[in-house]
Amino acid sequence: MEQYAIKGGNPLVGEVEIGGAKNAALPILAASLMTDETVHIENIPDVRDTNVLLSAMQDIGVMMKRAGRHQATINAANITTTTVVSDKLKKIRASYYLVGALLGKYKEADVVLPGGCDIGSRAIDQHIKGFEALGAKVSIEFGRIRAKAEHLVGSHIYMDVVSVGATINVMMAATLAEGKTIIENAAKEPHVVDLANFLNSMGANIRGAGTDVIRIRGVQKLHGSEYMIIPDQIEAGTFMFAAAITKGDVTVKNVITKHLESITSKLLEIGCEVKEEDDCVRVVASKPLRHTQVKTLPYPGFPTDMQPQITVALALSQGTSIVTESIFENRFKYVDELIRMGANIKVEGNVAVINGMKKYTGASISAPDLRAGAALVLAALAAEGYSTVDDIRYIERGYEDFHLKLQALGAQIDIIETERDFQKFKLKTG
Ligand code: UD1
Repeated sequence: MEQYAIKGGNPLVGEVEIGGAKNAALPILAASLMTDETVHIENIPDVRDTNVLLSAMQDIGVMMKRAGRHQATINAANITTTTVVSDKLKKIRASYYLVGALLGKYKEADVVLPGGCDIGSRAIDQHIKGFEALGAKVSIEFGRIRAKAEHLVGSHIYMDVVSVGATINVMMAATLAEGKTIIENAAKEPHVVDLANFLNSMGANIRGAGTDVIRIRGVQKLHGSEYMIIPDQIEAGTFMFAAAITKGDVTVKNVITKHLESITSKLLEIGCEVKEEDDCVRVVASKPLRHTQVKTLPYPGFPTDMQPQITVALALSQGTSIVTESIFENRFKYVDELIRMGANIKVEGNVAVINGMKKYTGASISAPDLRAGAALVLAALAAEGYSTVDDIRYIERGYEDFHLKLQALGAQIDIIETERDFQKFKLKTG
């Protein structure tokens, strides 16, 4: 099985180009089946999650032309079924976006229930509540979510929790409902806004995305569009923290700096220099890192998807730091791996208390999920000696060419399959 082999100790230095946002691409690709006209999407990240979704869409008759790695021309005029049960789809969280998209267009959907990262229980009650408020009957049977409506009718929906997925799903279905829908307590993440912009480019009438009240006036049908997905906030944040963790100097290119504000402000607090220009941001870590406190929150708060990366940095900072995870209940599983690398961290419930130490030491570790996997790689890059990171398929779900981008910044990292490969890597880097 493939692993990363890493020799730590090199500060990462140079420039890295950020790709399209995975969490925007997934709903946008799903929504592209909501019109019978042709849609052209650019800046699609070539990662496992988007590829699985595209292939599941092809399985139900969506026509797709790929002109290169990051573009797709999609036509969904001849969908053969609204039942999407392929096993591969179980592995990705975003499978449920097909429910909102199909329910909106065909008034019915039958989709295998989502998997995704194991970071705590991931309820979908708010999705169901939203679909039902629009007039759909929803059931969960045989591991599938089924939704069906005679008519979808606009409604006033108050989300009990701020949910990215539920906001997006209800927004898609409401786009093709009759009349007006108001979603209150909506998620404000950049990818929610990006999906709203995409739907509007297809003729939808959505206002207020990016605030906590989204107003949607239903339209009868959507038309074709050409659209470019926003840059990935979390990929950018991961490379910004890579600079901090390895005491490097990294310029992260092709970003929207506004989306990175909570990340930038924490890097400044812990003693990094951060210089922003139009569409790039440079992070320099020339001084010892300082402790801080951080709590994950919905956007514009500090993203839960950056929680493992900041924890890895704080374990190398002077003093005691506190990280509170307020979105998912089980997102500190990777801490045991960090402890094996020398970190001094105590987790109680959803709080991690971190006593800073001088350096990580290399170890054989496993990626427990996507973001934690990436964060463990950063720890290994800062560590003294060699590490191997297992289960890299999690990391490949959301980071395109992760090890190649790190190599270009001077990291000593390779994909290996056997002990012999590891020995060769050691010889090469010794
Ligand atoms: C999305 C992102 C994920 C990110 C998360 C929070 C995608 C594919 N994934 O996940 O990377 O970590 O947002 O920014 O975009 N909840 C309920 N009921 C629901 C829905 C959610 O109680 O019906 C709870 C969840 O259990 C969780 C919280 O709300 O505690 C936030 O979840 P949500 O924003 O829905 O996350 P996802 O859309 O699954």
